[in-house]
Amino acid sequence: MELKPPIVIASGIGGMGEYLKLIEPKFIGAYTLKTITFKPKKGNPPPRLIATENYLINSIGLENPGVENFIEQLKSGQYDELFERVKIIFSFAGDNFEEYEQVAEKMAPFQNKFIAFECNLSCPNVHFNPLSDLTTLKRLLSSLRRKLDIFLIAKLGIEGAFVESIAKLVELCGWDGVTLINTIRALHVDGERIIKGGVSGPILKPIALRAVHEVRSKTKLYIIASGGIASEKDAEDFFKVGANAVSVGTILYKDPSIVERIAKNFS
Ligand SMILES: Cc1cc2nc3c(=O)[nH]c(=O)nc-3n(C[C@H](O)[C@H](O)[C@H](O)COP(=O)(O)O)c2cc1C
Repeated sequence: MELKPPIVIASGIGGMGEYLKLIEPKFIGAYTLKTITFKPKKGNPPPRLIATENYLINSIGLENPGVENFIEQLKSGQYDELFERVKIIFSFAGDNFEEYEQVAEKMAPFQNKFIAFECNLSCPNVHFNPLSDLTTLKRLLSSLRRKLDIFLIAKLGIEGAFVESIAKLVELCGWDGVTLINTIRALHVDGERIIKGGVSGPILKPIALRAVHEVRSKTKLYIIASGGIASEKDAEDFFKVGANAVSVGTILYKDPSIVERIAKNFS
């Protein structure tokens, strides 16, 4: 996969292409859609976003229309203009092993519309954690690889086994890349109320840098770095430790023009 420039819009933050109203497509190497699951999901009740200077906690809970509705939208031409303007990464997940397989099976006939499929194996806001059992994970990775004939990226977190061990398994199962990292489970106290969610933003940068460094030293996988990238310097640091591309997420809420500034380093 060659991304020009090597800058990806992170899944979830960019919705289903909305940020193309704010960022020129020529500054985006690939745009990842919000994760699509087998069943439609309404997501979690509010509050769903807690914003502070250095981090954001979200508990969106993978709100999405479900794969069948998404396919109807695809067929109706709803995303045709988006596909013409930018390369798209399809992100998918399930509530259990079988649902991951079912989404892959349903989407296989449409895979040539996309530059890659990203399998979200690490959402902290759902109950199924595929990274907690490496035997099952290996079975899942092998099965998805057999069903899909496209550049396949595993989106990993740091909760579960060491990320480099999981990445080695990803490579062993014939996958092409990893996105490192997802949000991490976190908690916010608001008076008497406790809000659980996934933390993102600048606070993640050193953790994601370590993950990229470890995975680069142990695999040849394509690495999309994700976590706290909010400046040209952040992007440079990730390339120094071995990223092939950088993903931009939480900062989009504050300053979408950062994508253009990072991209200009590559022109
Ligand atoms: C509001 C919100 C929604 C997200 N939704 C998804 C999602 O649907 N799928 C996914 O793989 N990651 C999702 N993420 C994680 C981001 O794609 C990204 O990996 C993470 O936020 C770390 O990068 P950042 O610090 O640049 O935001 C979400 C993050 C946020 C803040």
